Amino acid sequence: VNLPKLLREMPKAELHIHIEGSLEPELIFALAERNGVKLPYANVEALRAAYAFTNLQSFLDIYYAGASVLLHEQDFYDMAWAYLQRAAADHVVHTEIFFDPQTHTERGVPMATVINGLHRACADAQTQLGVSAQLILCFLRHLSEEAALHTFQEALPFKDKFIGVGLDSSEVGHPPEKFKNVFALAHAHGLHLVAHAGEEGPPAYMWSALDVLRVERIDHGVQAVHDAALMARLAKDRTPLTVCPLSNQKLCVFPDLKDHNIGQLLDAGLCVTINSDDPAYFGGYINDNFVQTFEAAGLTAQHAYVLARNSFEASFVTEAQRQKWI
Ligand code: HPA
Ligand code: ZN
Repeated sequence: VNLPKLLREMPKAELHIHIEGSLEPELIFALAERNGVKLPYANVEALRAAYAFTNLQSFLDIYYAGASVLLHEQDFYDMAWAYLQRAAADHVVHTEIFFDPQTHTERGVPMATVINGLHRACADAQTQLGVSAQLILCFLRHLSEEAALHTFQEALPFKDKFIGVGLDSSEVGHPPEKFKNVFALAHAHGLHLVAHAGEEGPPAYMWSALDVLRVERIDHGVQAVHDAALMARLAKDRTPLTVCPLSNQKLCVFPDLKDHNIGQLLDAGLCVTINSDDPAYFGGYINDNFVQTFEAAGLTAQHAYVLARNSFEASFVTEAQRQKWI
C-alpha cells in the first residue's frame, strides 16, 4: 500500500485543535491591517522567524500575541472557516475545536462576538463542506478558578453553541484540581469534560484530571509512560489521549519525532489519536502529523486503521453517527 496516500485520504476526526493556533501568519497580518492593530513584527517573514520554541511557554507568548488581531465576529468566522476548509482537504469529517475565550474577553471582545463567529463557521462547515464541527470552551489555567467561573457564566447564554469545556495554557504549576469547582459546574450543565495533562506536567496531573475533574479525554497525556499504574488505568478504561506529535517535537517535549512515544502508547493498548494542536505554529495540519509520525515511528497500515477508528471512538458524537464512521 501507498501509506502516505492512505493516511491522507482516510476519513478521520480531529479532537485537539486550538482555533487560535490555526491562525496563519498571512491571516494575522491581513486582520491586523483590517483592524488597525499594530504588531511587534515587521512582516510575515519576521513573525514566522519568531516560531522557534523551546518549551510550551515560549510558544504561548507568541500565540497570545497573534490572537490580538481578532476583534470582530467576522474575524473569528474567517479564522475558523480557513481551518475548516483545510481540515476538509485532509479528509477530516468531524472536528471538536478548542477556543480560548479569555484570550479575547480580557481584551474587551464580547463573549457573543467570539462564540457567534466561530459557531457560524461550524454551521457552514456542515452545509458547505460536509464536515461536522463542534466547539469546546477552554479555560486558561494560568488564570484563577474565579476567572474561569466568571467566563463560564458569561458563556452560559450560548450553551447550545458548545459541547464541552477544556483546560489549556501553562501546565506546570497549575494542576487540574485548581479547577475542580468550575468543572463540576460544567458537568452539572450536561457538558463534556476534557483537559490538557501530561504534556509537560507529571503523571500526577493526569490522575487528578481523571479523578478530580472527571474528564472523559486527556489532551496530550504523553507523560503517562512514566507511571505503569496510570498506563493500566488508561488502557482498562479506554480513556482517549489526543496526542499531537508535531507539537511535542516543536515544543521540545521530545528531542525529535523519532523519539516520540506514540508507538509505546499504541502497543500498550491505549485509545490514542493523532491531532495537530496549533497547526499554523507547529508546521503541519493533521495529515502532516500522520505522515511524518508514521515515517519517524515506523507505524503501519494497521496502525492507520486503529488511529482513525480511535478518533471516532474518542469523539463526542452520537452512537448512531459513530457507527456510520466505524
Ligand atoms: N498546551 C497548552 N495550551 C495550549 C496548547 C498546548 O499544547 N496549545 C494552545 N494552548
Ligand atoms: Zn493543545
